[in-house]
Amino acid sequence: MRKRTWQLSLVIVAGLVLAGVNRVVVSQVADPSAGHGAHGMNQVTKAVAKVDPLGESGVKGKVTFTKQADGVLIEAELTGLQPGEHGFHVHEFGDCSMADGTCAGGHFNPTGAPHGGPDDAERHAGDFGNIKADQSGNATYKRVDKHIALGGPNSIIGRSVIIHADPDDLKSQPSGNAGARIGCGVIGIADPKMEH
Ligand code: CU
Ligand code: ZN
Repeated sequence: MRKRTWQLSLVIVAGLVLAGVNRVVVSQVADPSAGHGAHGMNQVTKAVAKVDPLGESGVKGKVTFTKQADGVLIEAELTGLQPGEHGFHVHEFGDCSMADGTCAGGHFNPTGAPHGGPDDAERHAGDFGNIKADQSGNATYKRVDKHIALGGPNSIIGRSVIIHADPDDLKSQPSGNAGARIGCGVIGIADPKMEH
């Protein structure tokens, strides 16, 4: 009797272990983020940054990055800006934790180029030029960029978008004389199926 009880518990334990293994295998197969799908590893096709104010600026919004055949489509919607142009860049580090945005580092510049405007052949990859706010402080931006990428050496994943108080003059070194950093958002991998 005692032996049978022991055998029974062994069967139950083995069953639980098998069920657990089974669950792990099923979840790996079902999880597209595991990266073993038809597109292979590390094929990020969409990224997003939620922009939050630095200090008391009140700047808020969202920037999305969508991979396209001819580059990366950048779309931004911001509110709470002063009317006019504001420097708009990708900075090297994805760290918005200081009130003045200092910890985001300088412009993302994987090729060692001088600062420039978005249409210059020689520029920092992070040089998006300016985003222009209307009289209500709302701004949108839409451009396809060939310097940034969502993978490889020019990847912007894990870096940050920074909005500045002043316009970027597109030529002053090293950062276009765009003044204080007033908005910051860390760029993360987005779900391409999510529409929002
Ligand atoms: Cu900047
Ligand atoms: Zn720059």
